Amino acid sequence: MVDTPDEIEISCEDGVQVIRIVRPDKKNALLPAMYAAMHQALVDGDASADVRAHIITGSGGVFTAGNDIKDFMSRASGDAAPVGASPVHQFISYLPRVEKPLIAAVDGLAVGVGVTMLFHCDLVYATPSARFLTPFLDLGLLPEAASSLLIPRRMGHTRAFEMLVLGEPFPADRAREAGLVNAVVAADELEATARGAAGRLAAKPPAALKTARDLMRGACVDEIVERLEVESCLFGERMSSPEAREAFQAFVEKRPADFTKL
Ligand code: COA
Repeated sequence: MVDTPDEIEISCEDGVQVIRIVRPDKKNALLPAMYAAMHQALVDGDASADVRAHIITGSGGVFTAGNDIKDFMSRASGDAAPVGASPVHQFISYLPRVEKPLIAAVDGLAVGVGVTMLFHCDLVYATPSARFLTPFLDLGLLPEAASSLLIPRRMGHTRAFEMLVLGEPFPADRAREAGLVNAVVAADELEATARGAAGRLAAKPPAALKTARDLMRGACVDEIVERLEVESCLFGERMSSPEAREAFQAFVEKRPADFTKL
């Protein structure tokens, strides 16, 4: 069992489990205990007959600013669990294996893992203010959560390269056009839209739903997990690189990173 930290709120109503990220002072940046709680909620929800679909969402006009940079720094200094045993790895490596429909509702910024997790979702709804940003390269890091496989597959190499390597933010409309987002809806309709879809899924015949979903996702799971593991190893190595250390330090000092002397 995992204690749920205050920054993750979990509720369940009418067969729909909602996992909400609530860390307003840090733009919903994710800490290890938050990943552990989200992972546990997905595992428990998958095992519970009361849950038919999961929704993951943010709060306060932000989805998530991605992994907490200070947590990156402590992992870089070896002051944390090995990559494979870390809560972030346990969370992302469960994403391809989630057994029930996974829906994301994104308002405002989605950064890093806040974007890569969306490629494991079955439905993604966003507001006009949603912005999708993967600054892995600018942090001296690499794509994770199998995003080096899933993003090019979804949107083609050139757009994926623009997102993952150039690090260009994708606004909501562009993300919809690129196949990441199903629909862009007003902020005050976001949750109702996600709950509406989840409710319709919860009312479907569960065995048929599971088989249809497995057919659509199952064929690729091994390939996705394999890529995710390769990325995790490389990501772990990059985290203690001089480039990443400079990027993390620059963030904390609120200055641009300087890679010219490395
Ligand atoms: N980790 C830790 N703290 C974070 C954070 C993160 N990923 N993202 C934001 N914060 C903190 C900021 O340090 C700041 O804390 P402070 O008030 O104690 O100084 C607070 O959240 C508000 O952030 P701020 O930068 O002032 O807000 P903004 O609206 O100007 O910018 C972001 C928001 C998300 C664009 C910017 O904070 C950012 O780039 N964050 C880093 C995102 C990132 O690289 N994530 C890792 C992806 S792999």
